[in-house]
Amino acid sequence: MVHNGAVLSLKQVEKIPWALEWLRGMFEVKDSRLAVSIRSLECPNPVGLAAGFDKDADLIHVLPSLGFGFFELGTFTPLKQEGQEKPRLFRYPKEGAILNRSGFSNPGIKAAAEKLKSRDKRLSFVPMGVNIGKGRQTPLDEAVDDYMTSFDYVFPYADFISLNVSSPNTPNLRALQAVKPLEQIVGRVMERNRALSEKAGQPPKMVFVKVSPDNDDETLYEMARIAVEKGIGLIATNTTVDHSHLKHSRSKGEGGLSGKPLKKKSNYVIRKLYQLTKGVVPIIGVGGVFSAEDAYEKIQLGASLVQVYTGWIYEGPGLVPAINRGILKLMERDGFKKIQEAVGAQSL
Ligand SMILES: Cc1cc2nc3c(=O)[nH]c(=O)nc-3n(C[C@H](O)[C@H](O)[C@H](O)COP(=O)(O)O)c2cc1C
Repeated sequence: MVHNGAVLSLKQVEKIPWALEWLRGMFEVKDSRLAVSIRSLECPNPVGLAAGFDKDADLIHVLPSLGFGFFELGTFTPLKQEGQEKPRLFRYPKEGAILNRSGFSNPGIKAAAEKLKSRDKRLSFVPMGVNIGKGRQTPLDEAVDDYMTSFDYVFPYADFISLNVSSPNTPNLRALQAVKPLEQIVGRVMERNRALSEKAGQPPKMVFVKVSPDNDDETLYEMARIAVEKGIGLIATNTTVDHSHLKHSRSKGEGGLSGKPLKKKSNYVIRKLYQLTKGVVPIIGVGGVFSAEDAYEKIQLGASLVQVYTGWIYEGPGLVPAINRGILKLMERDGFKKIQEAVGAQSL
């Protein structure tokens, strides 16, 4: 599988310090106009890597050198999981899409935290997010315990923590986006966040909830309300179960669709959440970013940061610097001196 191959080769690079420097020189676009700060997060540019690429926390020292302004690991669950039966990842190159039903294959939060603990400070020049989720076997009414367990493990190491309640590949996980369970999970996590940060004498960690693109407007309204009340951010969006957007290919069964067919849905959710929260909730926009124009569109709809996954797989690592350089050109065209001025410019 191409994905595993890529992870393996990147893992090799990690052992060669000059290679990391060389990569950084090739992929980093240094320009203070691209910098984004969201509370405690300082990102040198707005383009991040989405969750699901580094599911084992193997690349924490390589990813910063690939030009990303931040990156997100996981999803991790309390216990190790093998994930769904293979094949579970299908490419649709003509459509710029991927269908996956990975089902949170991961080493378990304890093993992941051990790797995070070894993070080299010299290679920590962009924020690292950790995405946590519910174990496959955990009943829904005990889900909150899974988030709490994982939160405690990663709190000392993560720069931000995202709560995944929107993957379509863990049965019923998306039900956690309903008001009651979401209020409970976010409420408990933020309480712990305050307690642990006070104890450590540092500001609370930025927490995000990852949103499904298949939610109706009422659910988005409630998620926006909870985000404002609890002081969290939102990541919009995860993959879609709506395969009707695959125009030229037959769907290969169940799973989440990402890439170009997801873009419109993801953009709808970003704009809606930005409008509902009147811009006070930080939004990370993700879904179908293949170019600077795609990224800039999400920013103008209300995303402070964007992420790539499927586009990065198809276009290769040159995509990140291409997006950053392209954004600078678009900002000059529109008269923005800092990228943060462009956030939501087309939404309110
Ligand atoms: C193979 C694959 C695995 C993924 N695994 C995860 C995951 O474990 N956790 C998560 O929150 N999102 C996961 N995602 C979703 C991505 O983070 C992202 O939200 C989605 O793919 C939309 O972005 P894109 O169109 O740029 O790919 C995965 C996506 C793909 C393609």
